[in-house]
Amino acid sequence: MNKSLVSIADLSKEEIGHLIDKALQMKEKGTGPLLAGKTLALLFQKPSLRTRLSFDVGMKQLGGHCVYLSPEEVKMGTREPVQDVARVLSRYVDAIAARTFAHRDVELLSKHATVPVINALSDAEHPCQALADLLTIHEKKGGLEKLNIAFIGDGNNVATSLALGAAIVGAHFTIASPKGYELEEEVWRRVEEYASLNGCHVATITDASAAARGADVIYTDVWTSMGQEAEAEQRRRDFAQYQVNTELLSLSKKDALFMHPLPAHHGEEIQEGILDHSQSVVFDQAENRLHIQKALLLHLMG
Ligand code: CP
Ligand code: NVA
Repeated sequence: MNKSLVSIADLSKEEIGHLIDKALQMKEKGTGPLLAGKTLALLFQKPSLRTRLSFDVGMKQLGGHCVYLSPEEVKMGTREPVQDVARVLSRYVDAIAARTFAHRDVELLSKHATVPVINALSDAEHPCQALADLLTIHEKKGGLEKLNIAFIGDGNNVATSLALGAAIVGAHFTIASPKGYELEEEVWRRVEEYASLNGCHVATITDASAAARGADVIYTDVWTSMGQEAEAEQRRRDFAQYQVNTELLSLSKKDALFMHPLPAHHGEEIQEGILDHSQSVVFDQAENRLHIQKALLLHLMG
């Protein structure tokens, strides 16, 4: 069976729990060469610091290695169809991590590849980020169920995976977005379904302060994602009331975590300096990409 991670919802609550346990164990005790001789292709259409590096370093720590394929080299979809790229790569490598614009391209890769495909960020989802986020929250709070996670900002790829992931593991989730920037209706319907199955509360609202009040986690991401640069100015106006600053943070619980996937636009979605706030865990979050992705690689390739 070809196991892939296209959406965070490809994983059950039990599987996410298992990945978190495994990541914590490897973080504490280190790793053996469990993927010796294995190759992971990094097929990237967009820039990356954390995702590319954490996969590369993670594979090396597990005894394997990565091959990076830039968009200029592969020109997936123009030089040759996605289906053919999937079939060719499957003959050379043991898994593919793909960062794309169209989510459909990751779906197509996973449909036509005979090796596991990992969504390393698409316009619709960022499941590896959500896994690292859940690991970080679990690590800091000792669990996930019934915690209040508040996402302030754009209903984007990061918000989508976090909302689904939170509802799957049974955490309460509130997202505050300006009108027109909410999570997609279809996504929200699924978030509500998971929430009702797992006994947690989810809400989508416009008031950032209301979302922050009593939260255990305050989470935000950029207002303008990769590929939306032409909308940046409009978005700065539309999101002006959605900056995460010390005032907003003070509405949450005293020991609330401040989280951001990075890269951050300082002075836009976050107040200058807030990454250094005592409640900020953003660099632990970035580090945890490495640990959870190693657990994921073992789960899919081991
Ligand atoms: N958070 C994240 O995915 O960062 P990169 O875009 O640098 O990989
Ligand atoms: N939403 C951002 C996340 C970057 C890690 C983007 O897609 O650009």
